[in-house]
Amino acid sequence: MDLDKDHILDSEEFVEEQKFEEALRPSKFSEYIGQEKAKEGLLIAIGAARSRKEPIDHVLIYGPPGLGKTTLANVISHEVNTNIRTTSGPAIERAGDLASILTNLQENDILFIDEIHRLNRVVEEVLYPAMEDFVLDIVIGKGPAARSIRLDLPKFTLIGATTRIGLISSPLRDRFGLVYNLDFYNAAEIEKIVNRSAKILAVKIDPAGAKEIAERARKTPRIANRLLKRVRDYAQVKANGEITEKIANQSLDLLEVDSFGLDNTDRRLLRTIIDNFGGGPVGLSTLAAATSEEVDTIEDVYEPYLIRIGFLERTPRGRKVTNHAYKHLGYQVQAQDQLI
Ligand SMILES: Nc1ncnc2c1ncn2[C@@H]1O[C@H](COP(=O)(O)OP(=O)(O)O)[C@@H](O)[C@H]1O
Ligand SMILES: [Mg+2]
Repeated sequence: MDLDKDHILDSEEFVEEQKFEEALRPSKFSEYIGQEKAKEGLLIAIGAARSRKEPIDHVLIYGPPGLGKTTLANVISHEVNTNIRTTSGPAIERAGDLASILTNLQENDILFIDEIHRLNRVVEEVLYPAMEDFVLDIVIGKGPAARSIRLDLPKFTLIGATTRIGLISSPLRDRFGLVYNLDFYNAAEIEKIVNRSAKILAVKIDPAGAKEIAERARKTPRIANRLLKRVRDYAQVKANGEITEKIANQSLDLLEVDSFGLDNTDRRLLRTIIDNFGGGPVGLSTLAAATSEEVDTIEDVYEPYLIRIGFLERTPRGRKVTNHAYKHLGYQVQAQDQLI
């Protein structure tokens, strides 16, 4: 599948993109750009654990898709020089699945559970004693003859990642010693990421070209890399392969990614709220139905950035478009403010 225009800025991962992402994924802290608070905290925790010869505390990383959660988990494992076993919330269906993963870990290993908010309750309860005391309680037999036995597990580090911190139960959240929120990147950081990726891909890019791509990348590394890839193709076909401001501009215009990094879906969401719901507030499920997008996709992928750039507001009665968005989309700014 080629990425269609409508979803060029969808920060979720596509399967065919994974190989490309692997090539660009930093493996060391020194290559991991930005997120200084998380890096600093982790480096201290790693140093302390190293001197005590213990595994680091369990780590929970949350933030919108494409901001570097999976990358950070791998960077940690590289830094502490241990194996990382990767799985995800929906992949662990039964308690037995988790038990077999846990019993196969080795001392100091990292278990990375992506989308940890999607673990079911039964599985989650197996995780509690494992995280806290490195033990596994299993029930043998059924009915009155059933008895529970306790197995010791190797001391491991759990790294959980989620786009939806609000869906993590508090007993689970409380068992993470280190919790980091990854935030959107600033322009300079995204520019560095674009330049770093261009170097790895051996693409020539001038500073203005990098700046142009960075500005339209929704402050998100995954999207910056994806846009770079598309602009590279364009530069090869339409020019001599070098990415300049002009080439970046033309190619991003062709993809209908605008100066704020909005794509067709973003604009459609905003326009629907304006045209059909008087600018809002409108409930999320009503908006999803009106735009034929999934509630989860709006909430995880589109909304965080629109809120971040001040185009959308979350109110108790639903989503509301701001005057900035009206202006950007070429509407007359609402008279609302003057009425008050
Ligand atoms: N801090 C960073 N520095 C450089 N590149 C990054 C950084 N964070 C993410 N990336 C790039 O963005 C891509 C997506 O990151 P990923 O960790 O898969 O995001 P998430 O797991 O949060 O959805 C990676 O392949 C990597 O190349
Ligand atoms: Mg990920």
